[in-house]
Amino acid sequence: METTLKNKKILITAGPTREYIDPVRFISNESSGKMGYAIAEALHNLGANVILVSGPVSIASTFPNHKTIKVMTGNEMYLECQKHFDSVDIAIFCAAVADYKPKTSSEIKIKKIENEVVLELQKNVDIAFEFGKLKTVNQISVGFALETNNVLENSIGKLKKKNFDLVVMNSPNLNEGFGFDTNKISIIHSDLSTHNFPLKNKKEVALDIISSIKINLRSKQK
Ligand code: C5P
Repeated sequence: METTLKNKKILITAGPTREYIDPVRFISNESSGKMGYAIAEALHNLGANVILVSGPVSIASTFPNHKTIKVMTGNEMYLECQKHFDSVDIAIFCAAVADYKPKTSSEIKIKKIENEVVLELQKNVDIAFEFGKLKTVNQISVGFALETNNVLENSIGKLKKKNFDLVVMNSPNLNEGFGFDTNKISIIHSDLSTHNFPLKNKKEVALDIISSIKINLRSKQK
């Protein structure tokens, strides 16, 4: 019987987060959100019930607005995911959550008085790790890894630490991954088997990721 994602409840995080220093300044990263939105759109078109929790992005997407929860900070993203994680079949952690956030955030704009300022940072909540601890045997979680060195070893480390069923390894090279329309991925499964894909448009990459999710779902249903 064909494995279908129709009516499956799927949570997706996408985009960067902003960690505020004061009301107008923040720490963030280059994530465009394109990969997460492409996956959300493709799954929605397959009839899945998708909830997209997105950091600030500016991309054209046909994914329905009413199914998108917009957030700014990693903590806001975590709190929104908390509302849905228990009830989802699949969680796809695509967001590039800022690893660190300022220890304190000023409520008013910081004045340019000092010649030097020191910004103290603290670790941000690791959303995928927190939900990895809560994941049940019937749930599938997918993570992403962008590594410049020891790619396979570091990605396997993430698979285990964050209790992912699949890890999508992105390339940090030009035209591949962050900010671009194309991506070159490899997918590691929980049995550590790896599948390499050629450079493709992110919409096509989304379909490859979905095929791997279906394989995983099929093996869980056996
Ligand atoms: O540890 P690293 O940031 O490389 O892990 C990447 C994976 O973990 C991605 O799936 C990302 O969405 C997720 N993640 C997260 N919360 C964080 C950091 C990463 O959900 N604070």
